[in-house]
Amino acid sequence: MNENRINRELQLTADGSHTLFLPDMDEHYHSVNGAVQESRHVFIEAGLHHLEREKVKVLEIGFGTGLNAFLTLLDAEAAGREIYYYTVERYPLDAGLTEALNYGELVCAEKKSCFHALHLAEWGKPVRVSTHFVLHKLQGDSNKMELPAEIDLAYFDAFAPDKQPEMWNQEIFDKLYACMTTGGILTTYCAKGAVRRMMKEAGYAVERIPGPPGKREMLRAVKL
Ligand SMILES: C[S@@+](CC[C@H](N)C(=O)[O-])C[C@H]1O[C@@H](n2cnc3c(N)ncnc32)[C@H](O)[C@@H]1O
Repeated sequence: MNENRINRELQLTADGSHTLFLPDMDEHYHSVNGAVQESRHVFIEAGLHHLEREKVKVLEIGFGTGLNAFLTLLDAEAAGREIYYYTVERYPLDAGLTEALNYGELVCAEKKSCFHALHLAEWGKPVRVSTHFVLHKLQGDSNKMELPAEIDLAYFDAFAPDKQPEMWNQEIFDKLYACMTTGGILTTYCAKGAVRRMMKEAGYAVERIPGPPGKREMLRAVKL
């Protein structure tokens, strides 16, 4: 992808929430069956809610629309649980586009200012966005950068392997494994056998679990 010429279209998904479509790649940022529904299922319920820790350090691969970060922030506030959220993004979105996304209004109108605050937060440093949530956005290529240490929970939310195969490689799963704490959890919407094998090879215990509507399975991996 050439970051200067990425064409993105705003689209509605089946649950009424927005996603972005990349015509040149023929790829969406989320499931067309429901962006919020998918994000809640794959990252919040299968990941965050599965982790029994009082304080959680999250690492997301692919900040994109900020939807996963927003749902995590809302959960942190509802549970009173402290979250430090690192997120890596190679191709940040323009303000015009992030302002058009309906997640704030749709998911939690009284906290919609937090959604915008996630996008306005400076890159490269920690920013406390709400009482229990610190955001640390890292701009760059997750394949090339050194990842932060002591991660409890990894959200692997890259474009699909058939659209962006360079994101799904043994090195990245080895690197993620190395930066996580024992018992830490990694989730992804992808359930491909090749991806599961790479995670196993890295050292994770991997399980296939039911995916969000429209997807039979997804993967959850635990660092042993
Ligand atoms: C499937 S989208 C999901 C984004 C986000 N989690 C969301 O809910 O909107 C994948 C994201 O990975 C980003 N990305 C692509 N290549 C990357 C790379 N090499 N390093 C970091 N991020 C990358 C894309 O720009 C995009 O924002």
